[in-house]
Amino acid sequence: MHIKDRTFIISGGASGLGLATVRDLHFHGGYISILDLHAENGIAIVRELGPERTIFFETDVTSTPSLQAAVDSTAAWIAQTAKPLGAIIPAAGVGNPGKLIDRHNEPISMAQLDFVLNINLRGVLDLIRLCLPHMTTTIPTAPDNERGVIIMVSSSAAFDGQPGQAAYAASKGAIRSLTLVLARDLAQYGIRAVSIAPSYFESNMTAQMSEKVRRSLEKVLEFPKRPGKGEDFARMVRGCVENVMLNGECIRLDGATRMPSKL
Ligand SMILES: NC(=O)c1ccc[n+]([C@@H]2O[C@H](COP(=O)([O-])OP(=O)(O)OC[C@H]3O[C@@H](n4cnc5c(N)ncnc54)[C@H](O)[C@@H]3O)[C@@H](O)[C@H]2O)c1
Repeated sequence: MHIKDRTFIISGGASGLGLATVRDLHFHGGYISILDLHAENGIAIVRELGPERTIFFETDVTSTPSLQAAVDSTAAWIAQTAKPLGAIIPAAGVGNPGKLIDRHNEPISMAQLDFVLNINLRGVLDLIRLCLPHMTTTIPTAPDNERGVIIMVSSSAAFDGQPGQAAYAASKGAIRSLTLVLARDLAQYGIRAVSIAPSYFESNMTAQMSEKVRRSLEKVLEFPKRPGKGEDFARMVRGCVENVMLNGECIRLDGATRMPSKL
């Protein structure tokens, strides 16, 4: 699919990997609807890129009414611009590590598990579900009669989860499992589904890790010997949009790094 003159809905687009994707798809001629909890960042990015091809909706992906309002408003924007929905990119996500049982033999709270699962899994399914009626009704494009693509964000944790990542790995493993099902369910509409599983990428999320954890993570990198950058991720997203043969697959984006059990 061509990026130019298509609309892209990106949750978590106000920071990190989502923001790098906003910038890249905008640079290549896309129209971008950013859904994020962080209003200040969202407004700033629209101011920076200009309101002609970017729009921001303050959205909590854990709330169906909030998502519904953002999707409805994006649909109204699409009606004005006449740039059809091309991709749904649910990139909002949180880490929030915690072991299921702590050293005082206290089980983790359900609130902590729900917090991660509701953003990383429920929020992804809900956004896709609400966007789909708008994608299935776009005019398919030649030569393959393609209508759109869903690009989700999994993680290395879906393959080699580390201690303390129970909720995170469960959510990202679910995204990985969901990929083929979505591809199969939506093939009849000409809609593809892929997921990208980054390892250790620079972002606000990883900036919160201690210097010690970051240094030991850098030791296990194969090649290149550096954390991934937003631009590396965005280039992969662009490939997923443009290459119609990518479908039903969770693509590791990790420079061959395999996370060890201890850092
Ligand atoms: N950075 C990495 O190393 C890495 C590795 C693997 C996967 N990922 C995944 O990449 C995605 C992006 O993460 P990032 O590293 O760019 O982090 P980030 O913290 O920089 O960005 C996450 C964005 O999600 C938004 N968000 C959080 N909760 C939200 C909610 N309830 N509703 C709407 N928006 C919400 C935040 O406001 C923020 O703008 C996540 O799904 C994350 O799990 C990141």
